[in-house]
Amino acid sequence: MKSYESLQHLKERIVQAEYQYYILDDPQISDAEYDALLVELLAIEKEHPEWVDADSPSKRVGGFVAEQFAKVAHYGSMLSLDNAFNAEDLWAFDKRVREMVADPEYVVELKIDGLTLALTYEGPALRRGATRGDGVYGEDITENVRTIRDVPLKLRDLDPSIPARVDVRGEGYMPKESFRRLNVEREEGGQAVFANPRNAAAGSLRQQDSRITAQRGLRYFAYQILQAQDLGLATQTETLEQLKRWGFSVNPCVKVFAGIEDVIGYCADMTDQRHTLPYDIDGLVLKVNSYAQQQELGFTSKCPRWAIAYKFPAEQVETSLLDIEITVGRTGVLTPTAVLKDVAVAGTMVARAALHNLDYIQSKDIRIGDHVIIHKAGDIIPEVVKTLPERRDGSEKEFVMPAVCPCCGDGVVRLSGEAAHRCVNPQCPGQQREMIIHFVSRNAMNVDGAGAATISLLLQEGLIRDAGDLYGLTEDKLAGLERMGKRSAQNLLGALEDSKRRGLACLLFGLGIRNVGNKAAKALATRFRSMDSLRQADLEELQAIPDVGLVMAQNVVKFFQDSANRDLLEKLRSAGVLMSVNAEDESESNDVFVGMSIVVTGTLSKWARAEIEQIIERGGGKASSSVSRKTTCVLAGENAGSKLLKAQTLGIPVYSEEEFVEKFFS
Ligand code: IVH
Repeated sequence: MKSYESLQHLKERIVQAEYQYYILDDPQISDAEYDALLVELLAIEKEHPEWVDADSPSKRVGGFVAEQFAKVAHYGSMLSLDNAFNAEDLWAFDKRVREMVADPEYVVELKIDGLTLALTYEGPALRRGATRGDGVYGEDITENVRTIRDVPLKLRDLDPSIPARVDVRGEGYMPKESFRRLNVEREEGGQAVFANPRNAAAGSLRQQDSRITAQRGLRYFAYQILQAQDLGLATQTETLEQLKRWGFSVNPCVKVFAGIEDVIGYCADMTDQRHTLPYDIDGLVLKVNSYAQQQELGFTSKCPRWAIAYKFPAEQVETSLLDIEITVGRTGVLTPTAVLKDVAVAGTMVARAALHNLDYIQSKDIRIGDHVIIHKAGDIIPEVVKTLPERRDGSEKEFVMPAVCPCCGDGVVRLSGEAAHRCVNPQCPGQQREMIIHFVSRNAMNVDGAGAATISLLLQEGLIRDAGDLYGLTEDKLAGLERMGKRSAQNLLGALEDSKRRGLACLLFGLGIRNVGNKAAKALATRFRSMDSLRQADLEELQAIPDVGLVMAQNVVKFFQDSANRDLLEKLRSAGVLMSVNAEDESESNDVFVGMSIVVTGTLSKWARAEIEQIIERGGGKASSSVSRKTTCVLAGENAGSKLLKAQTLGIPVYSEEEFVEKFFS
């Protein structure tokens, strides 16, 4: 029986761990230890619901389902900022300020591209989190805001003279990496992807089920306290310091300047550097530092006179659309892609942009040969913004969706209610090719050495027709294939042999059942444990699993009804592919890597990348993708590049594979 006191102690440990990790960027315990503490807390609170309070860190995982969000009045309306688009606008702003106050000092902060969130704390716990709305009324999304790990549920280090209520404002946002991951997951699950991190953050905060919000990796930077002056704070920089003491994340890129010329120089520097940040910014915010001066400057009807937003020039570039190519995906969808004249955008070269479907092309009136403006949505995904019809010379061609599949020549249909055109032939070599590429991909059967080019070659030479045939390959059959030496053939066969033991979750994902992404495949495997019992499951049983909806359940049932799929499963089974959960997956985890953050880089010879990352995670460590001062060590294979260099610069231990084995496994 746990005591109330031990619960309080546990909560304090979790709060401290979150603070160390999210605010100080200096974790003191491993992710696995943190998870274990949270699980313990949830278990105690389940047993003693009377002990649960609104500030408990258990709120971080969500669980509250809102019917709808209540409309709430803001304490003090939320103003917007005037915009500056160039140096001239900034000079004019400085001139206006100097007409009213002497020697202003400017603070420049990043303008985070997310959503303004207004937080209200009372004595001293988070009581309300609201969206901006129209600036006067917003929506109460408190339970969702509680899941943002760097929003303190209680303020730290309180001064006894703190007002009964404090209002903090800042920006909720989704880091680029979380955005990328979320979209991969959605694509795999057949859901529409988000256009950019801001939309993804907005969509995540408006979820009625806060458990979903909790999984989206949202973060928060605070920049304003409404009662700053009552607290005796005299400048914006003092406010930022106070926010840090209360336990908020404050963006570290804050600079103070005495003159506008230096501000303009900094704006130019940040315009170039913005792509290197792990989150999107759409400009900088320039504020007069002194509150006394801010008061003298006052407000216009809409905006403060003491601040201005410098908006980056949108990174849009012009290029030509040379062609529109059609690819046939593994579900038969014909996807048009723009082939562009190479051009640099937001830090990388772009040569292609997704055009999604016919409606999309028609709504933008995109024609082959057009001059187009392109940008990167969310700094990541190349997109055609618009065409330039005034640049047409009559040689441009309207795009027509082919009436027959470019891969197999069979019919193409558009089902009612769908934007996509599909090839109707399930045996279409284009579809088969994509299916097999998916089957061997990293999160599925993870067959090293079976890249898209190899699969195409094997299909072309008639050595395989479906994924099951891969396991019938032999050294003899592979001999004589172009660019396939004896050694590569042996490696490929070895990798195929290894892949037989991946287990049910990877296999299910690899089979490409419509709507079944990585996460759903894991959930199905955990619940049904073997292919045979999954095959016998009915719609009701399938839908009982969290994350499995009606459409996915129907697709699973349909998959097993199809005779071609049943033949494929038989072929895989007789080749010795494991059709149940992998015993290793379930084996007791160990603690070899507890508390460590390890970066793997370069080409390894002993392990596949996914494999070593799994080993690290099973050992209680974190397999991280970038080197920082928090990295414990780096495992470097052949041809390691910038990560190795960074580790060396930071003085972080670097191990070769042999050294790694020696250190951790002997
Ligand atoms: S200050 C009185 N500082 O940009 C106005 N705003 O119109 C106080 N934003 O949607 C705003 N980063 O949420 C300020 N460091 C920052 C900001 C910031 C992003 C957003 C803000 C609002 C818009 C300003």
